[in-house]
Amino acid sequence: MAELKHFSVMLDECMQGLNVKDGGVYFDGTLGGGGHSSKILELSSPNGKLVATDLDDYAIERASQKLAPYEGRFTLVKDNFKNLLKVKENLGIDGFDGILLDLGVSSFQLDDRSRGFSYLSAEEALDMRMDKTNAFSAQTIVNTYPENEIKKILLEYGEERFSSSIAKNIVAERKINPIKTVGQLNQIIEKSIPAKFKKDGHPSKRTFQALRIEVNGELNNLYDTIIQMARALKKGGRIAIISFHSLEDRIVKRAFKELETDCICDKSLPICTCGKKKEIEIITKRPITASESELAVNGRSKSAKLRVAEKI
Ligand SMILES: C[S@@+](CC[C@H](N)C(=O)[O-])C[C@H]1O[C@@H](n2cnc3c(N)ncnc32)[C@H](O)[C@@H]1O
Repeated sequence: MAELKHFSVMLDECMQGLNVKDGGVYFDGTLGGGGHSSKILELSSPNGKLVATDLDDYAIERASQKLAPYEGRFTLVKDNFKNLLKVKENLGIDGFDGILLDLGVSSFQLDDRSRGFSYLSAEEALDMRMDKTNAFSAQTIVNTYPENEIKKILLEYGEERFSSSIAKNIVAERKINPIKTVGQLNQIIEKSIPAKFKKDGHPSKRTFQALRIEVNGELNNLYDTIIQMARALKKGGRIAIISFHSLEDRIVKRAFKELETDCICDKSLPICTCGKKKEIEIITKRPITASESELAVNGRSKSAKLRVAEKI
C-alpha cells in the first residue's frame, strides 16, 4: 500500500495541555498512527513512560514501528480505552500524569479505502470496523436492523434530517439486493435526499458518520469512561480530549462539568450531606481549535475541539 500522509491534530496544543514532562506516566487511549504518542515519548525523555491502546491491529503494528526509537518506555495494548482501569491494574500503574483521547477514526483508516469508512470508496465493501476481528460491521446494520432503529441511528449519530427516507429506502433496497458496498449505500442516500438539500457537503457524510459510530460503539459509555479516566490521574495530572463532532464534544463538556462540580447540597444546610467533591479544574473554559497554519495543511482538523482538565 502507498505511504499515507498523516497529521496529528493539535499536536503542540495537546502536549502543552498535558504538560508533558520527563519521568511522567502517560496514557494515550487512541494510538492511531502514533503521532501524539511519539511526541509524548520525546517530551518525557529520558524516563517518561507511555501506555497506549487502540482497537485496530493495524494501528498497533504501524505505531510500534514508529515508536521503536523509544523501546522500553512504552507498552501498546490492543484494547478499548474504556478498559483503562483494567489495563492500569494489569501493568501495576498507580496513576497517570496525563491521559489523551483523540476520538474517532484515524486518517489511516479513512484513507485505506479497503476499510470501507469513506463514502468515496464506492467499490469497497461497506465495513467501518476499527477492530477487524469484530463480526459486526456496517453491513450488519443496513441489512438486519429494523427500519426505525436505522432511522434513530441516522438521526441521533448523524443529525441527518432525511433519516426517515434513507432508512425506508435502505429497507426497501435490501429486500431486493443485500447492501454490500459503499457505492450501493451512496446510491440509496442520493435518491433519498431532495436535490436542493445536497449542497451542504457530500450527501453520504452524515449517514456514514452515524453508521461508523454505531459499528464501533463510539459513544457508548464515553461519559462514564471520562469520569473513570479523571479518577485514574495523579494529583496535578491532566486529561486532554479531542472531539470531532458536537455529540462527542457535548459528552466531554458534560463529564468535565460533573467532575468540576463541588457539593450540590442546598446552601441553607449547615453541613454537606451529598458527599460530592470537586475533582478537577477545567483548564480550557472554551475548547481550543486548530490554528490557521494547521488548517492550511490538514482539513480534518477543522471540526476538532480540544478540552483539557487538571486533577486537583
Ligand atoms: C483520531 S485517531 C488517533 C490518531 C493519533 N492520535 C495519532 O496522532 O496518530 C483515533 C484512533 O483511535 C482508535 N479508537 C477509536 N475509538 C477507540 C476506543 N474506544 N478504544 C481504543 N481505540 C479507539 C481508532 O482505531 C483510531 O486508530
